[in-house]
Amino acid sequence: MTGIAATFAHELSAALKSADAPVNPLTDDVSAWLEQFRTALEGVGDVQDDSDPPVKLPAGPDDWLRMARDQLDGLPALVSAIHAAASAGRWYQIYAADGDSTGLSDNPMRDLASGMYAAQMIGPRGLIKSTELLAGLFLLRPRLHYPLHQHQATEIYFGASGTVQIQHGLGQVEGTLGPGQVSLTPSNRLHALTMGDSPVLLLYTWMGELGGRNWWWHPSDEGVWQRDAWERQSNAAWAKTVTEVLSPEHTAIEEGIDVGREFR
Ligand SMILES: [Fe+2]
Repeated sequence: MTGIAATFAHELSAALKSADAPVNPLTDDVSAWLEQFRTALEGVGDVQDDSDPPVKLPAGPDDWLRMARDQLDGLPALVSAIHAAASAGRWYQIYAADGDSTGLSDNPMRDLASGMYAAQMIGPRGLIKSTELLAGLFLLRPRLHYPLHQHQATEIYFGASGTVQIQHGLGQVEGTLGPGQVSLTPSNRLHALTMGDSPVLLLYTWMGELGGRNWWWHPSDEGVWQRDAWERQSNAAWAKTVTEVLSPEHTAIEEGIDVGREFR
């Protein structure tokens, strides 16, 4: 019998085949990337889950998950794979709030940590271990704003429940992603997410460079863009390791992402 994580990978691959990408600029070659992700997800094959037990969410986030599961919509095989993954998952906070080595009150992790949880099906913490592909569930608190950030991995979000505004680049243009739709984040693309009034449940998958720095962008008091690097330390806590002032050339790349943009 096929395991929960392998079934999840297979059903996510099937769902990506016909998904709309309403928040991506037209210049992104979304369909070519979706095919690469589908090949990787199908490449997982019929591997059994490990035998580690599920880890439940705390009470509040568990309520968001219940609400999100009540709102699942889509093909029965996909819905059933999501329910199975949600029950079997080892849920964890993706950012640990106590990992701030700086002690500064502007630690963005502190605000966000309690609003973002994941259950990895495939990956270093998954039911199937992989160091080349991540896939799983990503649960976000209603009305949470996940500010502008970038990472080396190429990322896909597939909407399962709730609606989220997704911004690509610095162009300040947002699009709405709902259930059954997909957003592709190319490597190092700046992006931000803002949840609607309902909890948001996304299916995520990452390919490429899975580790490294997660850069968070913010303007200085003078209005100059800066970015802070957050890195996982050997004790698994996140720490802010570098702050850079960004050059006009660098910000222009991100401002240019929405040039010529039309909604799909
Ligand atoms: Fe991301």
